[in-house]
Amino acid sequence: MKYDVIVIGSGPGGYVSAIRCSQLGMKTMLVEKDKTLGGTCLNVGCIPTKTLLEMTSHVYDANKQFKKFGINIGDVTIDYPKMLSRKESVIQQNAKGISALLSKNGVDVKNGRAAFESAKAIKITEGEDQGESIEADRFILATGSEPASLPFARFDHQRILSSSDMLSLQEIPNTLTIIGAGVIGLEIATIFTRLGTKVEILEVADSVLPYFDGGLCKELLRSLKKLGLKFKFNCKVEEVTNLGQSVRVAAVDDKGNTVEIEADYCMSATGRKPYTKGLNLDTIGVEMNADGSVKVNETLRTSVESIYAIGDATGGLMLAHKASEEGIYLAEVFAGKDNKINYKAIPSVVYTSPETASVGYTEEELVEQNIPYKTGVCQNRSLGRAHTADKLDGFAKVLIDKTDHTLLGIHLVAPHASEMIGEAVIAYDQKLTADQLIHTSHAHPTFLEAVKEACQVAVEGRGIHVV
Ligand code: NAI
Repeated sequence: MKYDVIVIGSGPGGYVSAIRCSQLGMKTMLVEKDKTLGGTCLNVGCIPTKTLLEMTSHVYDANKQFKKFGINIGDVTIDYPKMLSRKESVIQQNAKGISALLSKNGVDVKNGRAAFESAKAIKITEGEDQGESIEADRFILATGSEPASLPFARFDHQRILSSSDMLSLQEIPNTLTIIGAGVIGLEIATIFTRLGTKVEILEVADSVLPYFDGGLCKELLRSLKKLGLKFKFNCKVEEVTNLGQSVRVAAVDDKGNTVEIEADYCMSATGRKPYTKGLNLDTIGVEMNADGSVKVNETLRTSVESIYAIGDATGGLMLAHKASEEGIYLAEVFAGKDNKINYKAIPSVVYTSPETASVGYTEEELVEQNIPYKTGVCQNRSLGRAHTADKLDGFAKVLIDKTDHTLLGIHLVAPHASEMIGEAVIAYDQKLTADQLIHTSHAHPTFLEAVKEACQVAVEGRGIHVV
C-alpha cells in the first residue's frame, strides 16, 4: 500500500491537513495512536477547557449577577459529575464529527503508533492496526505536545497535577495552588474560582501572561483579582511536596524570602513540550532543536526531504489554529498552490473572564524594535453595550504606525474578545489603517465599537465617547 501523504497525529494540525490533502487529490492516510481522534485540543486542551469555562460562567452569573438583574433562583448547587459527563460528551461528539469528516473526504484512518522504518515508510506499532508497514511520498508530523513538568515537581497525578489531570479531577478542590500565570494557569484558575475553589497562582514574572502586551496584562489583572484569583508575582517555585492529603509548594520571592503554600492540589502550568516519542526520528536523520522540537525550514520541511512537520511538534506558538493553518499551507503547497502564512497575524486568545485576545505587535515589541507608534485606548465602560450586560471591565487598545496609521497591534480585554478579534485580524493582516476602521460602520450597541473608538483616539487623541 502506498500513499501520496501520510499524516501522523489527528489534532487540529493533523486532521485538517489530511482532509485538505485529500480534497486536493492526494491519496492520504492519517495515523493516530489514541482511541479518540482530535489530539490535545479536543481531548485534554481547548475543547474540554472551553466547555468547563462555558458551564462555570453560568454558575458565576447565577451566583453573582442574577439577583442584580432581578432574577431570584434560590441557592445555586453544582452537580459536578454531570458537568464532567457533559464535557466528555462534547469531546465524543466532536471526535465523531472528525471521524465522519475524514471518512467523507476519503482519508484512510489507522489506529496505532507510527514509527519510521525509512524516510519513505512507517510501521504501525501498538494499536488496532499494529504491524502494517506503509509507504508514502510525503509525511506530515503533527504529533503535538505534552505538559512539561518542572524537575522538582514531576506530575504524580495524585496531588501534583498537569492541566490534563485538572480537566478530569473528580472533585472540586477547596484550595488549589497553580504554578505559572500563563495561558493554561489563568484558564484553569478561572474555571475553579467560579466553582468556589480558593485559587492562588505563583508566577516568576511580575505579571500575568508575560509574553502579552503589558497594558493588556494590567487591564486583565484587575478583572482577575475582582473574580477572586490571588497572585504572588516575582515568585519562583523551587519545591513541591505531596503530603498525602495535600500538597506544599515552596517558592522564593525577589527579595529572597521563602513563600510556602499548602493546598489540596497543585497544578503546574509552566509550558508544554513537543511530543515525538516513538517516531524513530533520530534513526532516519530528522534533526531536532535543543528544546526537543522538530527542526523545520520556512516551508515546514525537516532535514529529511520527504518529511514535514507542523504545529506544537515544531515548538514556537502552541496554538490549535496555528497548527491548522500550517496543515492547510502544506497541503496547498504540495498541490502546487500559492500559499503563505503571516505568523504575526495569528491571534492569541485567552479564555479568561473577561476574555483576552491579541494580534500583531505588543507595545513592548514596538519600543524594542524602535518602530514609531501611537496608542489609542477605549475602556469598555464607555460603551452602551457594556452597561446593558453589566460587564464594564476591559478595553480595546490599538497601536498604529505614527506616520501612515497602519494598524500594528490590537489588544482586547472584553466578553467575547475571542470572537471580536476576527475583525482585528483581518484589519491587521490586510494592513488596513486606523482611519479605514474609523470610517467602517460598526453595529451599535456592540463591544466592537471599542476598537473603532480606540482607532479614533490613536489618530486624533479623542473619540466620540472617549474624551
Ligand atoms: P506559558 O508559557 O503560557 O506560561 C507559563 C508560565 O509559568 C510563565 O508565565 C512562566 O513565567 C511561569 N513559570 C515558569 N517556571 C516557573 C516557576 N518555577 N515558578 C513560577 N512560575 C513559573 O505556558 P502554559 O500556560 O503552560 O501553556 C503552554 C502552551 O499551551 C502555550 O504555548 C500556550 O500558548 C498553549 N495554550 C494556549 C491556549 C490558548 O490559546 N487559549 C490554551 C492553553 C494552552
